[in-house]
Amino acid sequence: EKGGYETFMLKEIYEQPDAVRETIGDRIRPGAKLELEGLGLSDKQIQNLRRIVVLACGTAYHAGVVGRYIIEEWARVPVEPDIASEWIYRNPVLSKDTLVIGISQSGETRDTVAAMRLAKAAGAPTVAITNQMGSQITREVDSVLYTRCGLEVGVAASKTFTAQVSLLILVALKLAQVRRTLSVEDHGFILDAVYNLPEKIAQFLDGDHPIEDIAQRYYEKPFFLYLGRHIGLPVALEGALKLKEISYIPTEAYSAGEMKHGP
Ligand code: F6R
Repeated sequence: EKGGYETFMLKEIYEQPDAVRETIGDRIRPGAKLELEGLGLSDKQIQNLRRIVVLACGTAYHAGVVGRYIIEEWARVPVEPDIASEWIYRNPVLSKDTLVIGISQSGETRDTVAAMRLAKAAGAPTVAITNQMGSQITREVDSVLYTRCGLEVGVAASKTFTAQVSLLILVALKLAQVRRTLSVEDHGFILDAVYNLPEKIAQFLDGDHPIEDIAQRYYEKPFFLYLGRHIGLPVALEGALKLKEISYIPTEAYSAGEMKHGP
């Protein structure tokens, strides 16, 4: 049921506060230690991690790029997000101290599933982030972290992207906690902020936001260019993908600094 919304996608955009609340849910409590059992790594494995590879397609890949910035910043482990359909053709270099994270809303995307199978066969520890219990990807990996968004009917991912990013924040915080790369104050500050995130999203969605006005002003434009730097870059990539997918208007996303090198 669309519950009074014009489309499932719009309904699911408004379900983001619940999706994030359920996903972070009992995994964090203010002032308490972060519990992330689904990560499936011992403290020793976390301390010895040399590298993380994140494999996914489309929107899930963009969530992985967000993950790179936050995991590297907080946990000081190099992170390589990669497009699953490219990675599987590259004879990738892997070892036991490389954690491979596969992200797939459906858990059924062929290339992401194939990538995780390859990673596991190569002996690397593997974790899936997915929204679907019992999906194919969950059978190919050592461990599973679930986003708890409920069904996403809209073909274009929305609430699952936000939940994937929330879960990657928890992964970054967990790694940072064990590796002692964040001060206790910073760790507590970020945990509190994540805990309050669903409320912040709800305030924006229910408040006086300018989205309708922006759409009215620009909907007839023939082309949209999204620019971003740092964590803004994956947001630009995702914005451009979403707009082209939904409106059929051509879009491009670019790293802000690269604009002076050709475009
Ligand atoms: C875009 C979108 C797709 C998916 C991609 C991966 O809005 O939904 O790009 O993100 O097909 O799908 P999953 O996450 O199910 O592996």
